[in-house]
Amino acid sequence: VVTASAPQRIGVIGGTGALGRGLAYRLSRSGASVTIGSRDAERARATAQSLGAEVRGLSNAECASECDLGVVAVPFDAHAGLLESLAAQLRGKVVVDCVNPLAFDAQGARAVPVPEGSAAQQAQAVLAASAVVGAFHHVSAQLLLDADLERIDSDVLVVGDDRAATDIVQALVDTIPGMRGIYAGPLRNAAQVEALTATLISVNRRYRTHAGVRITGV
Ligand SMILES: NC(=O)c1ccc[n+]([C@@H]2O[C@H](COP(=O)([O-])OP(=O)(O)OC[C@H]3O[C@@H](n4cnc5c(N)ncnc54)[C@H](OP(=O)(O)O)[C@@H]3O)[C@@H](O)[C@H]2O)c1
Repeated sequence: VVTASAPQRIGVIGGTGALGRGLAYRLSRSGASVTIGSRDAERARATAQSLGAEVRGLSNAECASECDLGVVAVPFDAHAGLLESLAAQLRGKVVVDCVNPLAFDAQGARAVPVPEGSAAQQAQAVLAASAVVGAFHHVSAQLLLDADLERIDSDVLVVGDDRAATDIVQALVDTIPGMRGIYAGPLRNAAQVEALTATLISVNRRYRTHAGVRITGV
C-alpha cells in the first residue's frame, strides 16, 4: 500500500553534481537516509564524505538499486542514456526528475525542445515501469548547500501522472523547512515547469540572487 509519507531511502543519481549534493545534504539534514550515485563509486564516496552529513556514496547502479525513491540530477545530455542503463534497478519505484533541458548563449538560458515534450516525459518513456515525477527544477543548489540557512523559502512544483507518486514527492519536499510541494499537474505540464528555469536564471542574473517560486492562494 502506497502512503503519502516521505520515503526513507533516497538515492540521488548523479549525486556528485551541484544539485545532487545540495539535495542529498538537505534531505539528509531533514532525516532521510540518502545515498549519492556516480559513474565512479570512489568519487561518490569522496563527495559524500565532503558533505559532512550522513550520506553514503555508491555507483549509480548500486544507488538506484538500494533506494526506495530515486532522484535524477544529471545534465540533460546524459539523461536518456543513463536512465536506460538503470531501468531495471528503478523498476516499480518513484523517480524524481529535476532535469532542465537548457542551452546558454550571450542572452542567457533558453529552453531547448525535447522530442518527448520534456525531460520528465523522456524519463517516463525510458522508465516505463517506474512512476516519474518532476520536481526541484527551480531550487538553487547553492541555497541547498548553505549550512547556515535553516529554511529555504520556496515552493516546489510537482508534476506527475500517478497521484500516489506525486503525493509521496510532495511529502518529501515538505520535510525541508520552508519548502512546500505544490501539485502542478500531469507530466505533460513538465515542459513549462522546466522552461520556467530559463526565466528564473534571467531574474538571478539581473538581481544577483537565487530566485525561487511561490504559488499564492494555496
Ligand atoms: N545546479 C542547480 O542549481 C540546479 C537546480 C535545479 C535543477 N538542476 C538540474 O539538475 C541537473 C543536474 O544539475 P547540476 O548542476 O548538478 O549538473 P552537473 O554538476 O553538471 O552534473 C551532475 C552530475 O551528473 C553526472 N554526469 C555528467 N555527465 C554525465 C554523463 N555523460 N553520464 C552520466 N553522468 C553524468 C556527473 O557525475 P559523475 O561524473 O560523478 O558521474 C555530475 O556530477 C541538470 O539537469 C540541471 O538542469 C540544477
